[in-house]
Amino acid sequence: MNPAFDGASGPADIEGSPLHAAFRQPLILGLFLPIQNGGWSISTLPRSTDWRFDYNARLTKQAEALGFDLVFGLAQWLGKNGHGGQMKYREQSLDAFIATSALAAMTERIMLISTVHALYGPWHPLHLAKFGATLDHISNGRWGINLVTGHVSTEWAMFGQPMIEHDERYARAAEFVAVLDTLWRSDANLTIRTPRWQLDDAFVSPRPRFRRPVLVNATGSDAGIDYAVRHSDLVFITSPAGADFDDAIGALPAHTAKIREGAARVERRVRTLINPTIVCRPTEREAWAYRDAIVAHADEGALDGFVGQGSRSDAKAWANHKREQRILGGNLHLIGSPEQIVDKLVALKRAGCDGVQLTFFDFEPDLAYFGEAVLPLLVEAGLRRDLAGSDSLHTTT
Ligand SMILES: Cc1cc2nc3c(=O)[nH]c(=O)nc-3n(C[C@H](O)[C@H](O)[C@H](O)COP(=O)(O)O)c2cc1C
Repeated sequence: MNPAFDGASGPADIEGSPLHAAFRQPLILGLFLPIQNGGWSISTLPRSTDWRFDYNARLTKQAEALGFDLVFGLAQWLGKNGHGGQMKYREQSLDAFIATSALAAMTERIMLISTVHALYGPWHPLHLAKFGATLDHISNGRWGINLVTGHVSTEWAMFGQPMIEHDERYARAAEFVAVLDTLWRSDANLTIRTPRWQLDDAFVSPRPRFRRPVLVNATGSDAGIDYAVRHSDLVFITSPAGADFDDAIGALPAHTAKIREGAARVERRVRTLINPTIVCRPTEREAWAYRDAIVAHADEGALDGFVGQGSRSDAKAWANHKREQRILGGNLHLIGSPEQIVDKLVALKRAGCDGVQLTFFDFEPDLAYFGEAVLPLLVEAGLRRDLAGSDSLHTTT
């Protein structure tokens, strides 16, 4: 048989699934886990942020207790010293797939999204289908894949593979995910034929709890958006105008509309998620002073290395982010008092973002402050609803 992705039904459509519950929130709330050293900020200002598992497990539990919908881990393949500099930025990184697997057994409600480069090395769709089904079972439908295609030539070289051309990668990803989806939905042995994959009498158990795990893609290119609107529940978007909030907010409505319209053309709905870095303090002045201190401690060597990666990458998504904006990092910067942060989140929602995936400079205390000072205001502003006690949050088998 020729496998096909069933874009018409997935966990978002099933009452009781964790994704369905998250999509009932006016603003989906995620935390981008710093499973790589330095997180998102190329600054040596002292902080607690740590790539180690124990720290990330604490953050995940903290986010779960605050009612966040998901945590997310990225995947990158870097050599010794990472991006370099004093920090050896991102030299240390946990594998997101393995880290979210361990987190699945330590949490109860929060979704766990793991980035996977499906086109690298030895990934066979049968492997990923089986591993994903197992994690779906362990997490009770809370696990998902951010399926990315690999935009850095040196990563391909690490795997000893020639880099596949940008748009062709998305065609291969579509082929891969069609096999995955077909395996997950089938209750019988399947013989599958695609140009790349041949499977005879293949079978995957257990059946995922809500048809399939959650599917995510992170992209900014036309080919990537075309892939994502057909094959994802969530699309990780970037600001097309760089990290400055005012620039981003001007450019985002057209960008999110393009994604919504693309999905509507294939009779689907996808949700968009953007990853702001939040710098919040009781007053605007204090927030900017904190931001200025972070920027004043820029690690120039690491910054050179990180920005230099652009010459080895063909990603379109980050094309307009400026060097200086990479010090604080993240996709766009939200800086201010709790009230100002809420105003900016309201503006992002109005600009068509369905959710945010937050990063902080000093994760543990900054997340605690966000929970204490910003979250109650978000509820007041109607962006978060307390769904505790709602049946749809409890996904018992
Ligand atoms: C929020 C976000 C997270 C991302 N995480 C990863 C990642 O973990 N690994 C990776 O290789 N690329 C990651 N990317 C980069 C995208 O995969 C990259 O933009 C990709 O090559 C898409 O390219 P395109 O925009 O040209 O389609 C991420 C992008 C965004 C916006």
